[in-house]
Amino acid sequence: VAARRKLIVVSNRGPVTYGRDESGARVARRGGGGLVTALRGLVGHHDVIWVASAMSDEDRRVAAEAAGEAFEETAHDGASYRLRLVAHDPAAYDGFYNVIANGTIWFLQHYLWGLADAPDLGETQRRGWTEGYEPVNRAFADAVVDELGRHPDASVCFHDYHLFLAPRIVRERRPDALLTHFVHIPWAQSDYWHALPADFRCAIHEGLLANDVVGFHTERWRRNFLDSCEALVGAGCDFRAGVARHGRRETRVVTHPISIDPDEFDALRENEAVLAEERAIAEDRPELLVVRVDRTDPSKNIVRGFRAYALMLEHHPELHGRVGMLALLDPSRQSIPVYAEYLAAVEREAAAVNERFATEAWRPVELQIGDNFPQAVAAYKQFDVLLVNPIIDGMNLVAKEAPVVNARDGVVVLSENAGAYEEIGAWTLGVNPFDLEDQAAALHRALTMPDEERRRRHEAIDAFVREHDIEAWIENQLVEIERFDGIPTV
Ligand code: F6P
Repeated sequence: VAARRKLIVVSNRGPVTYGRDESGARVARRGGGGLVTALRGLVGHHDVIWVASAMSDEDRRVAAEAAGEAFEETAHDGASYRLRLVAHDPAAYDGFYNVIANGTIWFLQHYLWGLADAPDLGETQRRGWTEGYEPVNRAFADAVVDELGRHPDASVCFHDYHLFLAPRIVRERRPDALLTHFVHIPWAQSDYWHALPADFRCAIHEGLLANDVVGFHTERWRRNFLDSCEALVGAGCDFRAGVARHGRRETRVVTHPISIDPDEFDALRENEAVLAEERAIAEDRPELLVVRVDRTDPSKNIVRGFRAYALMLEHHPELHGRVGMLALLDPSRQSIPVYAEYLAAVEREAAAVNERFATEAWRPVELQIGDNFPQAVAAYKQFDVLLVNPIIDGMNLVAKEAPVVNARDGVVVLSENAGAYEEIGAWTLGVNPFDLEDQAAALHRALTMPDEERRRRHEAIDAFVREHDIEAWIENQLVEIERFDGIPTV
């Protein structure tokens, strides 16, 4: 059990977001996304001050009432922590979130540009950077410095690609602070970073190198990062030891794959809302059910997934009427045009498969657009084949969550470019996410796999995830901190 320690956790999306219910009363809802879910476990065991953006109108009201300071909040399990919501100018936040973090850095780090036609960098990105990404990072850094003034012994844990500049600003003002940063998405290879202007890419690398520790989910992203630190800002890197030297500083660069809380999913299996959704799925399900659960993000490769499934149907008419695909898709980042267009393309592709193959008695694809977590867990229980075929993905927690609750020895078809592949790939059917024939063949092999092999593969993934759970990940972060501050973790 780790010692109780003081942590300043910094992420764009917070653990809760505020709204109003029908009666007009203020309600706190769980913040969405894998990162926030994963970090929630920290709160019960440590003195956490969580610094996050005020995202909803009600968040901004809450921030104003607290005069921008941290206030006491209670987690779903009763643990208390302090929350500090940073309210940004809306135009600055738009440049930060839509133009740079998600519209540019996300695309770069997931190789989503073909380069022949994208990106087109111009005034929008320049202003998004100087009037959005920079000032929002400065506002986060100001809040952290303020909290460090009150709690000088606290360790700072930055998260993700929204906050690449903040560590350097904090470092300039607090040279001795213990700063860590966890990057939850892939790290692109150094040549691809040249798709960004030199000042953007250098500021990003130098911002990260102001930390004492930088963490990634896989060896692959860690190696890419060390390589691009060397190539782009001339850092001296020891790849084996995982150290980058830049100026007079040394940064430890580590790999700690994130995971899930299996107890939470064991409890969800029997949850009323999940059981109700499961009854609905079970009533309608075909003999063989393929499931996918994703945000509608171009990196998730949903369109190619439908094409591969169609190809499998083309090659295997004997499966017509027996198999169905249930795609549960959460609409994501719809204020960014490419995301809105991608969702439309996903809907068109699903309709095209149905148009081509459906009969009066059989619909090959069932598409549900919405954010329905109980339904996702119900589908996790019911799948025979889980399709997780991202173009590239930092980790992909669906690949870990679904097997833990699955009741049918379901087979996972997994992209070799998902971070999870480094850990559980051997027990999945690995696929090249760009190769439709490869994915079609893997779907067919998974659908026709003998029971004994299904069971063996499923049990192996289940056991691995239960052993390498979220608590182990959190513990690893704390051990990294302990190396620097000398306070024993155990
Ligand atoms: O993968 C990175 C990540 O931050 C996840 O933790 C999370 O699920 C997702 O992106 C959320 O994105 P957003 O905050 O834009 O909805």
